[in-house]
Amino acid sequence: MSTQVHNEIIKVMEERHAVKEYQKGVKIPKEHLQQLLQAATLAPSAWNLQHWKFLVIEEDAYKEKLLPIAYGQKQIVESSVVVAVLGDLQANLKVDSVFGPLVEAGFLPQETKDALAGQINGAYQNSQVARDEAIRNASLAAMQLMLAAKGLGYDSGPMGGFDPAKLIQEFNIPERYLPVMLIAVGTAATPARASSRLSLDEVVVSNTF
Ligand SMILES: Cc1cc2nc3c(=O)[nH]c(=O)nc-3n(C[C@H](O)[C@H](O)[C@H](O)COP(=O)(O)O)c2cc1C
Repeated sequence: MSTQVHNEIIKVMEERHAVKEYQKGVKIPKEHLQQLLQAATLAPSAWNLQHWKFLVIEEDAYKEKLLPIAYGQKQIVESSVVVAVLGDLQANLKVDSVFGPLVEAGFLPQETKDALAGQINGAYQNSQVARDEAIRNASLAAMQLMLAAKGLGYDSGPMGGFDPAKLIQEFNIPERYLPVMLIAVGTAATPARASSRLSLDEVVVSNTF
């Protein structure tokens, strides 16, 4: 008999699949949309700089504009909403808004905040670091968004198949933000195609290579 614990979070992970076909015209209530975006923001991030920005595309006209940018993938127009998850290339600029309130509340000494600011701004001198952190941390929020969607009874599908330069241009995305992925959210019309995973033997290495 299996001794694995089967809790709710793992169940949600097992039930999430990348859905490609959605029931058209399903509207996600504003509260649900906010709830899943809020859940996404609970993701951990390096220095808690929350390197994400969510461009929420809900109106038909904007979805039509997005369709060719995403190479005609029809989940763009059939799903309820598409969230473009963007990574913040200048997340270091959030030091004050993230750490300032902690200093004011007496939880963090000013000197510690100053030391952190020095460390963070130093790291951000390197554009590769800025880019890596933007992608790494925004991806964690993207995953949380998809799991939160499943938890709320919706389906989702991540998409890397889009032209980032065109997305930036057509949606007036400031230079500060890097498109990381698009996520369609809605109600499946057809279940996701079956997917499998490599065995743990193939993906796990014990202690050292
Ligand atoms: C970064 C990323 C990019 C993806 N891009 C696309 C895409 O452009 N179009 C698409 O239909 N699916 C896309 N997928 C979905 C994957 O094909 C899918 O997650 C994978 O086959 C595993 O299936 P599952 O998520 O249902 O288990 C993408 C997934 C990820 C994580």
